[in-house]
Amino acid sequence: MVTSSTLSIPSDVSVPRHVAVIMDGNGRWATKRFLPRTAGHARGVQAVRRVLEACGQRGVEYLTLFAFSSENWRRPEEEVSLLMRLFIQTLEKEVDKLERQGVRLRVVGDLSAFEPKLQGLIHAAERRTEANSTLNLTIAANYGGRWDILQAMQALLRARPELAARPEAIDEALYAQYLSMAWAPEPDLFIRTGGEQRISNFLIWQLAYTELYFTDGYWPDFDAKELDAAFEWYRGRERRFGRTSAQVSTDA
Ligand code: FPP
Repeated sequence: MVTSSTLSIPSDVSVPRHVAVIMDGNGRWATKRFLPRTAGHARGVQAVRRVLEACGQRGVEYLTLFAFSSENWRRPEEEVSLLMRLFIQTLEKEVDKLERQGVRLRVVGDLSAFEPKLQGLIHAAERRTEANSTLNLTIAANYGGRWDILQAMQALLRARPELAARPEAIDEALYAQYLSMAWAPEPDLFIRTGGEQRISNFLIWQLAYTELYFTDGYWPDFDAKELDAAFEWYRGRERRFGRTSAQVSTDA
């Protein structure tokens, strides 16, 4: 029998416990206004603040944001360096507030590619907020789903070298312990702004049973109202997790 790593079927579906977001459309938001693309990223940070607050008020426990993909290094050098500066400034400015608001911040991805100052700030912010538990904010930076799957396999074999000779002993639950977000439940709701309908190498293992919501609006315009529209859509979904419709009704 194949055991799914989706071990826990959520009982309350009125508010998604874990929301994962691809914040797309910053560049187009700016271009439409004859502004440099980087102005769109700066406005994107304001949308992050709004959505974080709205998620806190609505009882979301995990908010995971795709801030920089492994593929984003291919962008013009100027844009990459502005994004790095924005991460640094945001961390320096916001960490006090996150700490006070009970937000636990974590950053997942291959952080070794970032400049030492940014790595230091990330680790300091993670340490400062590690006792918090109201809302878990995770920023995926230099993250790729395939990278995650590969690093998990490497980490598993490093920790349990004897399993290389017994690969059949590796099941989904064991393997998933080595993914970079092993401590979080799988996302209930995925949101992508900006009109594209792709997962773009985000949490590809963890999104297997997630409800996928796409909206044409650009990320800098995303706010509590847009979030509520996504939640409303989510409430209308029937999450079967492999069961039949009749089973879902009986279990509810
Ligand atoms: C995608 O829009 C967005 C990004 C690659 C960067 C996202 C970053 C932020 C919202 C700001 C920083 C966030 C934190 C947490 C400090 P795009 O540039 O691909 O837009 P386009 O598709 O219109 O070109």
